[in-house]
Amino acid sequence: MTDHGTGTHGAVRTDAPAADGPLVELRGAGKSYGNIRALHGVDLTVRANRVTCVLGDNGAGKSTLIKIISGLHQHTEGEFLVDGRPVRFGSPRDALAKGIATVYQDLATVPLMPVWRNFFLGSELTRGPWPVRRLDIAGMKATADRELRDMGIVLDDLEQPIGTLSGGQRQCVAIARAVHFGARVLILDEPTAALGVKQSGVVLKYIAAARERGLGVIFITHNPHHAFMVGDHFSVLRLGTLELSADRGEVSLDELTNHMAGGAELAALKHELAQVSGVDVAGLPEAGDLTAPVATSPEGNT
Ligand SMILES: Nc1ncnc2c1ncn2[C@@H]1O[C@H](COP(=O)(O)OP(=O)(O)OP(=O)(O)O)[C@@H](O)[C@H]1O
Ligand SMILES: [Mg+2]
Repeated sequence: MTDHGTGTHGAVRTDAPAADGPLVELRGAGKSYGNIRALHGVDLTVRANRVTCVLGDNGAGKSTLIKIISGLHQHTEGEFLVDGRPVRFGSPRDALAKGIATVYQDLATVPLMPVWRNFFLGSELTRGPWPVRRLDIAGMKATADRELRDMGIVLDDLEQPIGTLSGGQRQCVAIARAVHFGARVLILDEPTAALGVKQSGVVLKYIAAARERGLGVIFITHNPHHAFMVGDHFSVLRLGTLELSADRGEVSLDELTNHMAGGAELAALKHELAQVSGVDVAGLPEAGDLTAPVATSPEGNT
């Protein structure tokens, strides 16, 4: 499914979907904060029906990258295109108008309000003509219920305060909300960072569900395993530049992990740890192991 229907409930979307080209594209994009160069020369392509993973260590520039795309910051070098046209957003509202929605880790929810109220927060449905216009509570509940179910999210009770849901469930509600309000591009900033294994799995499932709904997903994470489970493309940032940009199939999980870990740095760390008494480094891999090609087949042919 590529065409995702136009403006079904579209409070956000104003543009028709791009034909088949990238939804979002960065070409040699960069960002300096004063004289700190946080990002430099980054190429990134986001397409419908694909999960583009952005990986990198702390300070690698991941947040800076998504802040450009989500309209929080402007790039200071290179190009930023949406639907093939150069853009420069003044605020997140501009990004939203192009169908680019961001789910931040500290979800903007009101913990004591019911799930359905949070689903419509800031975009409440109303009914009846002015001046007797009222909140369409039944409509909002029914829609929230349907949308969550459509994404395969089953909650016992939409009346429960959203604060009582687990972190993973709240991420899922936020994903369903973005889908409902017509997002074409969904940016998730470390949605699994604070979650345990099981809950991370649930969130990964809905990342895949968002892709099936035709969205282009940008999934920011520290975790190569999580990225590898759902990713179609992997971009690894290191000190503000792209260290790796590879499609699924061009890279193995081991290689991805190695790029994330920085083989040489791990070797140095192992060396340092070896000096500390009480730390057993015997079981840790050597730098050579980390940089060795993965899955070497025994039958060498020449
Ligand atoms: N507003 C700012 N002003 C000055 N420097 C900044 C600002 N925001 C980020 N930086 C710097 O830019 C670099 C990249 O930061 P960024 O937050 O994009 O990294 P990150 O990959 O998201 O890291 P983390 O995993 O810790 O969230 C860092 O060196 C950071 O100190
Ligand atoms: Mg960050």
